[in-house]
Amino acid sequence: MCGIFGIVTKNEQPLGNILAEAAQRLTYRGYDSVGAATISGAKVDLRKDVGRVKDVAVKYNFAEMSGQRGITQLRWATFGEPSQINSQPHLDSDGDLVGAHNGNVVNNVELRQQFIAEGMTVRSMNDGESCVHAVERYINRGEGFIDAIRHAYDDLQGDYSFVIGSITDDKLYAFKKGSGLVVGLGEDFSCVSSDLPSILPLTRKIMRLNDGEIITLWHDRVELHSVKDGSLIAREPELVTETMEAVQKGGFSHFMLKEVHEQSQVAREVLHMLDGSPDVASVVEKMKNARNLYFIGCGTSYHACLTGAVYFAQLAGRPVIPVLAPQFMPQYAPTVNAQDVGLFVSQSGETKDVLNALEVAEARGMTCFGLANVIGSTLTKATVCSLPLCCGYEISVPATKTFTNQVVSFLYLAYRLAGRDTKELETIPALMDKTLEMVSEQVETIAAEINSWNDLYCLGYGATYPIALEGALKLKEITYAHCEGMLSTEFKHGPLSAVTKGFPILFAAGPNDLPLLVSGLNEVTCRGARAIAIGQDDPRLHANASDVIVIPDSTPEIAALLAVLPLQLLSYHMSVLRGYDPDFPRNLSKTLTVD
Ligand code: AGP
Repeated sequence: MCGIFGIVTKNEQPLGNILAEAAQRLTYRGYDSVGAATISGAKVDLRKDVGRVKDVAVKYNFAEMSGQRGITQLRWATFGEPSQINSQPHLDSDGDLVGAHNGNVVNNVELRQQFIAEGMTVRSMNDGESCVHAVERYINRGEGFIDAIRHAYDDLQGDYSFVIGSITDDKLYAFKKGSGLVVGLGEDFSCVSSDLPSILPLTRKIMRLNDGEIITLWHDRVELHSVKDGSLIAREPELVTETMEAVQKGGFSHFMLKEVHEQSQVAREVLHMLDGSPDVASVVEKMKNARNLYFIGCGTSYHACLTGAVYFAQLAGRPVIPVLAPQFMPQYAPTVNAQDVGLFVSQSGETKDVLNALEVAEARGMTCFGLANVIGSTLTKATVCSLPLCCGYEISVPATKTFTNQVVSFLYLAYRLAGRDTKELETIPALMDKTLEMVSEQVETIAAEINSWNDLYCLGYGATYPIALEGALKLKEITYAHCEGMLSTEFKHGPLSAVTKGFPILFAAGPNDLPLLVSGLNEVTCRGARAIAIGQDDPRLHANASDVIVIPDSTPEIAALLAVLPLQLLSYHMSVLRGYDPDFPRNLSKTLTVD
């Protein structure tokens, strides 16, 4: 979701290709527009538009841009439609300042009104422009850059980072709050970017920024200030020696483990995006008035659809038909019409099974929305409107952070449909972190203890039923064991006969369903099974399960979401213990573009 890059060199030089290449390295984050600005003497050269980096760079001849400072930005639209004017970087009122941001300024609408009332020239709807005017406001009052940024920070609410430069100053300034920002120090240049992999091809001498820090970049040095009191912060640069792949893994042994630990951050980002999205209200309205509402996906994305359907029913009283995409065609397509609404859910946005169903649904006049991670994918282009999952690149084949953000998005939409305050959902990221903290060690131990079993079950009920299906899919996908996900009440209708001493059965326990679950636990433990319950701390679980993996207290809906985290970790550890690579399981592909 958006990316920024800025560079300061010793002398004026061609910068256009450097900026285009840096922008290209940020494309994995997802974007719809790209822009570049160079500052040379008292002149800002600004070129930007909607489109792919390579197309916009060629159309606007980035190659001829030169300067002593340069900024490039990839934008994924939240505030303001994708358009040339809303693309970044942005100028201040008289074109002296140029800047770009990454993230969300949640009070953008109010700020724009203030800037207009103060006589500033506001050209776009975009919150990146608000970052520039927020600094301009204090520069106009005679403040230096550091103080202007410090005061702008008080005005700009949300999670963002930005980079800004002026024609009257040979430096660039950047600020971090909530969104990533890393600095690179090279031979006669310094640069700043949203992420490390985009800097590493230029230099391996880097400095990581913390939230609340302002960096000043000269061509041969940088200086760090605290936004709180403007004081200088001492920090030595570090040398990155790892391979690019290790850097991309961020210190984790596998992409899957890294992506599991990224879930709280991306949940925060998707909640911010949904809060600021101009599309949510119309999507919710259409869903509310639909004759029939379908959630359509495959694999993990289908499990998110099932979870969403439970949320919509329980929170908003809105019935939903969750359906596996290929089954949509024989079972529902013949009956749908223009009064129906479908939400097509896919991490990749390229799953052929989903696109086939979308084509048939559109041909029958159904209103089709998307929920996808890869911006610019076929699904996002083919639907009336597609909400992004804001997860960045998910490299590991097993979906983890994209699943949880699908579920978070469904929960958000259900809240909106129910007219409930979505602020309640802001606890989710911290609860996810707490869950990982609470369960990680225990799950690793349990993984080792049950790893010899090649047959497992994973059971749930209500909102935890699809979570059990998802846990079972993760286990199958990367441990190659057979794990069946099932409604807990169905177990006694057949599979119970499989139980022998020590047989591992995982239970995802919803806090409101414990009486039902207690029967299920006893039915299997009295026959020798090892019943491993995942749920909130409750004496009934401790009294009836063989093991209890305790997750933090929350609402029943959030509890279901949290319960998938230990299941992701369990499958990860079992996979590694078996000597497999969880990131690239045999026979599987991240994007299934075949029937
Ligand atoms: C999830 O771990 C799997 N890799 C798989 O089930 C996946 O969810 C499915 O193929 C659908 O992919 P999509 O979300 O990209 O459409």
